Amino acid sequence: MKPKIFITRKIPIPIINQLEKSFDVSIWEHEDIPVPQKVLEEKIAEIDGLFCLLTETINKELLINATKLKVISNMAVGYNNIDIEAASKKGIIVTNTPGVLTETTADLTFALLMATARRIPEASSYMREGKWETWSPMQLTGQDIFNSTIGIIGLGRIGEALARRAKGFNMNILYHNRNRKLQAEKELGLQYTTLEDLLKKSDFVCIMTPYTPETHYMIQKEQFLLMKDTAILINTARGGIVNENDLYQALADGEIWAAGLDVFEMEPVSLDHPLLTLPNVVTLPHIGSASIATRMKMAEVAADNLLLVLNGDIPKNVVNK
Ligand code: GLV
Ligand code: GLV
Repeated sequence: MKPKIFITRKIPIPIINQLEKSFDVSIWEHEDIPVPQKVLEEKIAEIDGLFCLLTETINKELLINATKLKVISNMAVGYNNIDIEAASKKGIIVTNTPGVLTETTADLTFALLMATARRIPEASSYMREGKWETWSPMQLTGQDIFNSTIGIIGLGRIGEALARRAKGFNMNILYHNRNRKLQAEKELGLQYTTLEDLLKKSDFVCIMTPYTPETHYMIQKEQFLLMKDTAILINTARGGIVNENDLYQALADGEIWAAGLDVFEMEPVSLDHPLLTLPNVVTLPHIGSASIATRMKMAEVAADNLLLVLNGDIPKNVVNK
């Protein structure tokens, strides 16, 4: 009998076909609706492997019924949706998809930075709404990117890829990280600072750190007060790292100048979310890694990780060694 696996969303067909060679595969077929927790609860009891997305909450309660489960393969680099400790206690291997999305996510982060600084979505709407009557000296003016100071919080793979892009714009690059990255400092001319200094000195504060209990609300009122009133906050990591109420206040009060957000505390955000009412906020629906090629690669890596574990081999990307 083939091992049973459950895939929590429609993924590219070639990858499903590949998995079907080795496994008895069942799939939550909807493209735009996440699998209900109830369905997941039933499935988890009978499967050997789970292929899931960041939209699934894999908590302790769910894992109680996971009596045969050997592997949870998350099609994402972040894995804060999974209770790693609970999985480890049950001997379940958890894997993610780092590496393949690094450059794509750094591209999106820089695109969001530029869009926010130069008010691109606002300017585009302005034109479509028929407001463009003449060229005028201070109309839709934003902040410069070249020669400015960028502060990168979290210098992992994606943070470093962002630094390479910043270097191309001749930016002064500060970073804060749990440990210093001397090689990157030397190669890219980065400067390590305390979080406080980074917040005080940066024109762009970019959050590139994983979401953990330690980074929960790492950026809140106190941090916004340290930032320049011309500063721009960019978050393409996880929403819970920023206190959204405090961010709203900081933007509304002019404590900071603008924000570009690809992630939110509760996703999807509802249309009445206060941040969506502010003109100086650029919002995206969590599309950091969303290039066709990269999403294909992420699905391939997630499938490979699942195959390796269930074949008794060592997968490449174990997060709970
Ligand atoms: C996306 O947010 C990911 O973690 O891959
Ligand atoms: C993710 O790949 C990171 O380390 O930034």
